[in-house]
Amino acid sequence: MLDGIKNLFSSDEPDPVCSAIVVAAGKGERMQSEVKKQFLPLLGMPVLAHTLEAIEKCPSVGEIILVVSEEDLLTAKDIVLATGLDKVKTIISGGKTRGESVKKGLSEVSDNASIVLIHDGVRPCVKASLIEECIKNAEKHGASALGVKPKNTIKKTDKNGFIEETVDRDTLCEIQTPQCFQKEVIVRAYENFDPSATDDCVLVEKTGVRVYITEGSYANLKLTTREDLTMLSALIDAEAFSEEE
Ligand code: CTP
Ligand code: MG
Repeated sequence: MLDGIKNLFSSDEPDPVCSAIVVAAGKGERMQSEVKKQFLPLLGMPVLAHTLEAIEKCPSVGEIILVVSEEDLLTAKDIVLATGLDKVKTIISGGKTRGESVKKGLSEVSDNASIVLIHDGVRPCVKASLIEECIKNAEKHGASALGVKPKNTIKKTDKNGFIEETVDRDTLCEIQTPQCFQKEVIVRAYENFDPSATDDCVLVEKTGVRVYITEGSYANLKLTTREDLTMLSALIDAEAFSEEE
């Protein structure tokens, strides 16, 4: 069985400041589609190709490590070659949980990288300018993640389904990806890996490092269910998420 595709592009480029891990090894169960959501076509290109293009555009990103399921290694390679993404240096197989996929990605990060960026392969509408801002904030604070304020009123409920209290929205934040870290910060966090962690920040928080929130964008949707596909395709069609001139 193919274990991974390494050194896809050799380069004489300067050392990467930032190594980006794009995780796309999930099964997409909530999407309930025949084709895994990361490979679904979105206006002529697979979702994953849109995501990788957005990351590739970032000047601070020197290399991209793509994590997919073992059975998708060759499909992923075809997408990388067809999209002309020459920062994708390594494609490897992921693990059973998102965290395990990230952990495998971390072991491929180049020695020269000082920042590690982790992004979901199914967030195709992320702006390069926000990615750059998140990287800068991680350089300054050790760790930073994109986040937005919830738009809806949030209530705490009891186990019988009744409202218990209204939570102050100003104290809440919906966390997105990318999540960016100084390399030693994320490496140390993953030394105490806990498979129940739903994002990377939570492992970093446990080490005592404070994570700075970089204001994200409501267009940076994660493709999770069918209706997200409709919204993402409208966003890409209108290029509503693209860089402002
Ligand atoms: N992911 C991964 N490895 C896993 C599980 C998830 O690389 N074992 C990736 C997904 O491919 C996705 C990102 O982590 O890009 C966010 O996860 P999620 O939206 O939950 O995707 P899935 O786990 O694929 O979807 P579901 O939870 O509905 O099965
Ligand atoms: Mg999942």
